[in-house]
Amino acid sequence: MKDSENLIWDQLRIPSAIPFAPSSSSSSHFKTIPKFLFCFILFLSLIYLLYSFKLLSSRDCHEGPFSTRLLSSRAAVPNLNVSESQQPQKPTELRHVVFGIAASSKLWEHRKKYIKLWYNSTKMRGVVWLDDHVETHNDDGLPLVKISGDTSNFSYTHPLNHRAGIRISRIVSETLRLGMKDVRWFVMGDDDTVFFTDNLLRVLRKYDHNQFYYIGGSSESHMQNIYLSYSMAFGGGGFAISYPLAKALDKIQDHCIQRYPALYGSDDRIQACMAELGVPLTKELGFHQFDVHGNLLGLLAAHPVSPLVTMHHLDLVEPIFPNVTQIQALERLMTTPMKLDSASLMQQSICYDKARSWTVSVSWGFAILIFRGLLPPREMETPSRTFLNWHKKADFTGFPFNTRPVARNPCQKPFVFYLSNSTWLNSMTQLSKQVIIVSEYQRHRAPHPECRWKMTPPSTIDIVKVYKKPDPHLWDRAPRRNCCRVKESPEIGILLVDVGVCEEGEVSEF
Ligand SMILES: *[C@@H]1O[C@H](CO)[C@@H](O)[C@H](O)[C@H]1NC(C)=O
Ligand SMILES: *[C@@H]1O[C@H](CO)[C@@H](O)[C@H](O)[C@H]1NC(C)=O
Ligand SMILES: *[C@@H]1O[C@H](CO)[C@@H](O)[C@H](O)[C@H]1NC(C)=O
Ligand SMILES: *[C@@H]1O[C@H](CO)[C@@H](O)[C@H](O)[C@H]1NC(C)=O
Ligand SMILES: *[C@@H]1O[C@H](CO)[C@@H](O)[C@H](O)[C@H]1NC(C)=O
Repeated sequence: MKDSENLIWDQLRIPSAIPFAPSSSSSSHFKTIPKFLFCFILFLSLIYLLYSFKLLSSRDCHEGPFSTRLLSSRAAVPNLNVSESQQPQKPTELRHVVFGIAASSKLWEHRKKYIKLWYNSTKMRGVVWLDDHVETHNDDGLPLVKISGDTSNFSYTHPLNHRAGIRISRIVSETLRLGMKDVRWFVMGDDDTVFFTDNLLRVLRKYDHNQFYYIGGSSESHMQNIYLSYSMAFGGGGFAISYPLAKALDKIQDHCIQRYPALYGSDDRIQACMAELGVPLTKELGFHQFDVHGNLLGLLAAHPVSPLVTMHHLDLVEPIFPNVTQIQALERLMTTPMKLDSASLMQQSICYDKARSWTVSVSWGFAILIFRGLLPPREMETPSRTFLNWHKKADFTGFPFNTRPVARNPCQKPFVFYLSNSTWLNSMTQLSKQVIIVSEYQRHRAPHPECRWKMTPPSTIDIVKVYKKPDPHLWDRAPRRNCCRVKESPEIGILLVDVGVCEEGEVSEF
């Protein structure tokens, strides 16, 4: 038995099969290597020096290493008259994005409140596409409102849905045909999709808008993904299409739609045409379709390590903060924490109050959860099922990701603290003026099951104060959760937590 195991391992470990270091016979061979290496490195560095000198003298490269590389490859081909789209470009800004919003005239009066939360007409461009005329009084600052083209000549045969799917899938082409200038991305969403536009930009900047990109996310319901497609960007969660891809789509879309009369909605029609173009979905975990019911706390307290880009279906779930309307709740999130540190919004960090044996999970700018007992990070980063599946009868196997029960033991039902205030704190340290954000979270007074564990209950805490430096470049680095540390608090009833980039060797150890 043991012998056969060894054999397998030897076959797998490829380097050991290659005699790269035969024993004594070639020792002389080894001595010659350092000299040779030294000469070679010297040679390389000389070339490098010469080359970089030439680059520096020919151009001012103050745009960072990426554009420098683009410049150097161009310098090799002189007299090339590059069109504007090929030049090394400035990062994508909001003015390069055009939003195409699907809306219905019936729900417009209510739904436009969601658009007002995130849309700013002085720095964004967008068009709301409606099925019918609406009164546009008091709509200052909203996107342009337009009526979609007639689609009654397209056939639609799906028995369950409405033919509006055809109209809505054509929003991409109809928006493109308005001929707006200097567009890099078309971003689609519904009238009840809330965009976190700074984070949308952070995501779009990762991709080259001169190429074909189709970026979005899936549903939180496995069955929805199965029925529609795992390869499809769910429209309510929002999705982005690069300009050249929108042009290619526009060329085929009307014919393409005619080939799929039996599809369900608008976003599966887009995906069918993407499949014809051979363009796959680039998945980004911050686009949230939110095909769920109930309370989003479980999902938002364990947000993936990815910027929060959208939220959708906010009329169908409980308000994200208790005892206020959904609009008021979103305003609380978007007026201060989002403005102070949008990159870190909803980002989780996990730490322990070892003296009191508590687990602390921070969802920055939103909520803090304190648990009795020390729970491992792999459990804390798994969403707890405070929400129900889209198909209400489905159990935990109906989610296309791992979930966990709200509490395995009645004592472990978390104490939840919701954001109540956040502001700058200018602390004068001895050497420099450091800008820090202090955010406060108040305990939600919900009933808790009786617990006989002999330990300080987290209900002795009324307010959690979190200190954090803003981190606008969070997503320019490899994804990693922040670290948090529970600090000594001089005041009773207050828990102090420090959140920030993990220090060398720092881990969430319990
Ligand atoms: C580059 O091409 C454009 C038109 O394609 C032309 O107007 C322009 O003068 C050209 N520039 C140079 C430097 O040749
Ligand atoms: C829209 O953006 C401009 C420019 O950044 C800003 O001055 C203005 O306050 C914003 N409007 C709203 C309603 O947020
Ligand atoms: C339906 O009408 C639209 C707009 O007039 C047109 O672009 C499209 O090609 C027509 N489709 C069919 C199948 O006739
Ligand atoms: C809920 O809000 C209402 C009015 O805003 C207030 O009177 C009430 O005390 C609040 N309830 C709780 C539990 O905070
Ligand atoms: C928010 O916190 C700041 C700083 O601690 C404080 O000055 C302010 O009064 C607080 N606002 C509210 C509404 O609690």
